[in-house]
Amino acid sequence: MCGIFAYLNYLTPKSRQEVLDLLVTGLKRLEYRGYDSTGVAIDSPDNKNIVMVKRTGKVKVLEEAIQEHFSGREYSEPVLTHVGIAHTRWATHGVPCEKNSHPHRSDDENGFVVVHNGIITNYNDVKTFLSKRGYEFESDTDTEVFAKLVHHLWKTHPTYSFRELVEQAILQVEGAFAIAVKSKYFPGECVASRRSSPLLVGIKTKTRLATDHIPILYGKVLPRSESTSEFMPLEEKEVEYFFASDASAVIEHTNRVIYLEDDDVAAVRDGTLSIHRLKKSLDDPHAREITTLKMEIQQIMKGNYDYFMQKEIFEQPDSVVNTMRGRVRFDGNAIVLGGIKDYIPEIKRCRRLMLIGCGTSYHSAVATRQLLEELTELPVMVELASDFLDRNTPIFRDDVCFFISQSGETADTLMALRYCKQRGALIVGITNTVGSSICRESHCGVHINAGPEIGVASTKAYTSQFISLVMFALVMSEDRLSLQQRRLEILQALSKLADQIRDVLQLDSKVKELAKDLYQHKSLLIMGRGYNFATCLEGALKVKELTYMHSEGIMAGELKHGPLALVDDSMPVLMIVLRDPVYVKCMNALQQVTSRKGCPIIICEEGDEETKAFSSRHLEIPRTVDCLQGILTVIPMQLLSYHIAVLRGCDVDCPRNLAKSVTVE
Ligand code: F6R
Repeated sequence: MCGIFAYLNYLTPKSRQEVLDLLVTGLKRLEYRGYDSTGVAIDSPDNKNIVMVKRTGKVKVLEEAIQEHFSGREYSEPVLTHVGIAHTRWATHGVPCEKNSHPHRSDDENGFVVVHNGIITNYNDVKTFLSKRGYEFESDTDTEVFAKLVHHLWKTHPTYSFRELVEQAILQVEGAFAIAVKSKYFPGECVASRRSSPLLVGIKTKTRLATDHIPILYGKVLPRSESTSEFMPLEEKEVEYFFASDASAVIEHTNRVIYLEDDDVAAVRDGTLSIHRLKKSLDDPHAREITTLKMEIQQIMKGNYDYFMQKEIFEQPDSVVNTMRGRVRFDGNAIVLGGIKDYIPEIKRCRRLMLIGCGTSYHSAVATRQLLEELTELPVMVELASDFLDRNTPIFRDDVCFFISQSGETADTLMALRYCKQRGALIVGITNTVGSSICRESHCGVHINAGPEIGVASTKAYTSQFISLVMFALVMSEDRLSLQQRRLEILQALSKLADQIRDVLQLDSKVKELAKDLYQHKSLLIMGRGYNFATCLEGALKVKELTYMHSEGIMAGELKHGPLALVDDSMPVLMIVLRDPVYVKCMNALQQVTSRKGCPIIICEEGDEETKAFSSRHLEIPRTVDCLQGILTVIPMQLLSYHIAVLRGCDVDCPRNLAKSVTVE
């Protein structure tokens, strides 16, 4: 959903070439957020202008263009202070092409240049306002109005500081944004801000910073000439700043970051950073904390794998353990979820549980709903965030609403969270991204600790979300005598899960053979019911998004109500038939398929000869407790979609038209 990256070095000599390398590497880390087009802006060799390079396509294309464009001594000489901004785009307004690529600029030969993630919803009004004042527009984007608006304010308010100009422009725009702005009129300065789109500031100094906080300045401050006091020196003369959409872009430079809040305006001048807000409400803090990232650089590298998605699928034996680490005590059968433990009495008194998310995160809610109903004995509703909002769903003060999101930034989910919070419900975040908006806006929550997920198609986050919700169900039933046997069975199964996932991953070559049979087909139907219905939905989503083949997850109980008409001897069908309470019903569906000449591929339990006898091909998975089967059955689906995508020549980590972290509604 667009990645923005900016870099500023102060008294730390770097050549323009080095700055460009930094920008390109930053963009590569953010590429999963959008890969329609890219661009960078840096100072010209004489420092009087700003030069930009933009290209349609992925960062690699930009990298080649940069190599062509910027060579010669003037690019290899060290510069003491420099500001560069960069962008990778997921197109929303205007088709992917060079003129719509960021950075966008003001009319005066790049006087102000801006990179933006989000949507300026009132851009037409701003455009009309500026057009009447003689501004001409060169792109079809919403972002361009921002660069021109800042320029207009600069012309009309010559005493404003760079920070004030951007701040005044932000007051005029509506919608969602994270922006970074650079100007030839304010060399060595950079201003960035966010509203509903993520943005963080990374700080790199030679020695550890003396402070853990940057004070926030509130209200209007004095004009440029008198406003030096707003900038708080870090007691470090040489410093580098990074502005980025997420931590993966800065971790190789620094682990010290500040997560900006909505409407924070961060500005760097003379090497010092200020964070300013126009309004202060009673509970606003006095400072933003500088946090230390726990992420390691290896976590965001592909290692020996061909694709991030492949790496992330194979990481699941470890990621599920990380989700449970320090929380589940298998010896004492105890579970502690530190992030919500103080709220458990309140949750137990609630009217109902609502699980809300989008895409794969929504599927983790579908997968665990039945267990939550069983172990909490509460009504559990699962909702797609967008539909939930469309319906203006009634929400009550005694509802407990879970917001499930890998990125913690998905706009639909975040909007639904705010909707529920306004109505007084308790908000529980289930996210994979520390410091994300959903994380910060929740009353309490569970970090799923799956580690960074870079592949656009979600895999390990799904299994970790699944386990987090299972752990929550176990916590809720701790004092229910009648449920102790069931809890024990689940806890024992959880203790074996990592090894069983390893066993399932051994099916990889068999799944690859299956993919060879399937990859030229147009469609794949995936059927199951009960605890495995979520795997059907999730498997079909993976196949669609990665392979561009049609695929549908079908509730086996619904087969005879319509989908059976699709079945014949040429339609690929995959069925999940496990020895659980719905086994007999699944066998009925299986027979309905075979009697219509369907030749199903079956996922069944190891050694289940009776079921295998109905299959054309089969994949056997280890036996586990019914409510955890979905973790073992989804892995063959992840592998299958991966192999089909490779065979069809699709870009596994960057499926067409998609982006990770969907920060627009
Ligand atoms: C599919 C996928 C998406 C996301 C959805 C929600 O593989 O990744 O469907 O699950 O966009 O994203 P998060 O979990 O970040 O809220």
